[in-house]
Amino acid sequence: MKRIEFASIPTSEKQGWLQHAVAPRPICFASTVNKEGAVNLSPFSFFNLFSTQPPILVFSPSRRLRDGSVKHTLTNMEEVPEVTINIVDVLMVQQVSLASCEYPKHIDEFVKAGFTPLKSEIVRPPRVAESKVQMECRVVQIIPLGHEGGSGNLALCEVLIMHVSEDILNEAGTMIDHRKLHHAARLGGNWYSKVDEQSIFQVEKPNVHLGIGFDQLPDSIRRSKILTGNQLGQLANVTGIPEAELAFYDPHVKEIVQYFSNNPDEMEIEMHRHAGRLLDEGKVAEAWQVLLMY
Ligand SMILES: Cc1cc2nc3c(=O)[nH]c(=O)nc-3n(C[C@H](O)[C@H](O)[C@H](O)COP(=O)(O)O)c2cc1C
Repeated sequence: MKRIEFASIPTSEKQGWLQHAVAPRPICFASTVNKEGAVNLSPFSFFNLFSTQPPILVFSPSRRLRDGSVKHTLTNMEEVPEVTINIVDVLMVQQVSLASCEYPKHIDEFVKAGFTPLKSEIVRPPRVAESKVQMECRVVQIIPLGHEGGSGNLALCEVLIMHVSEDILNEAGTMIDHRKLHHAARLGGNWYSKVDEQSIFQVEKPNVHLGIGFDQLPDSIRRSKILTGNQLGQLANVTGIPEAELAFYDPHVKEIVQYFSNNPDEMEIEMHRHAGRLLDEGKVAEAWQVLLMY
C-alpha cells in the first residue's frame, strides 16, 4: 500500500487524496442572501445528511486554499441564517460548475449560470427551479474547523420544507424513485459520477434479521478460492444454514457431479463457480442448495 502521511504534505495534496478517496459526494447547490437581500448560489460537495430528527444537512464552505479567505456563502449565512439546498442532477451539472466561478460578491450566480430563482415559502433565499429536490433550511449552527486555507466551516442546516418534483416520484407518488432522479456526484479532480438505472443496485438490509456471519460459514465455503467477499456476504446473511433439500434439482449440478466424479477438488471449484453465478443473480437459497449438495 502507498502510505501518505498527512502531516508532511501540503494542503492542496491532502485535498486531492481526500477528494479522490471520499467519493462520490452528493452536491448541495446552496442559495443564500446577505442582509441587503443580494442572492448567492454556489455548489458544495462537502455535504451530507447527518440527522433525521432533527432533520439536519451539513455542508462546508471552506476557506480558499490560495489565501485563506472565506466564501460568500459563509458570510451570507452568518448575516442571514437561512439557505435553500437544491439537489444537483446530471441535467444541470455543467451550469452548476459555472456557478462555482469566483464571481464578485454582488454578482448573482442565478443570472450568470442561467438558473431560474423560485420564491421560497418560509426562507428568504430563493430555490433553484431546475432542481428536482429543493429544501428550505434554517442554519442552526456554523462550526469553523480552522483559520487556514482549506479549513472547513460546517454549516448545520435544519430542513423545514422539502419540495420534490412529481416527475421523480414512484408510481404511487409516495417516494423518490432513484431511477428517475439522476443525481450527479463529485469525485476527485474533474471527475463526476451519475446515478442511473445501470449504476444502481439493491442490497438486502441486514438489520431486519441477524445474519449467521462469516464465522458460522462451513470452512469449505469460507475458505473458497472462487467465491468473492460479496458472495460470501450474501451466504452469511441468512438466519441459519439451510437444510439440504432432497427435492432440489439442478441439471448443471448433475453435469458437474458426473463430469468430475473422480476429481473432488475440481468438483468443488466448479460447484463454487456455479453457486457464485447464482448468487450474482440474487438466488441465495439455490446457491446454498448447490453448496450443500456435494
Ligand atoms: C461540484 C462542486 C463542488 C464544490 N464543493 C465545494 C465544497 O464542498 N466546499 C467549498 O468550499 N467549495 C466547493 N466548491 C467550490 C465553490 O463552489 C466555489 O468556491 C464557489 O465559488 C464559492 O462561491 P461563494 O464564494 O459565492 O460562496 C465546489 C465547486 C464545485 C463545482
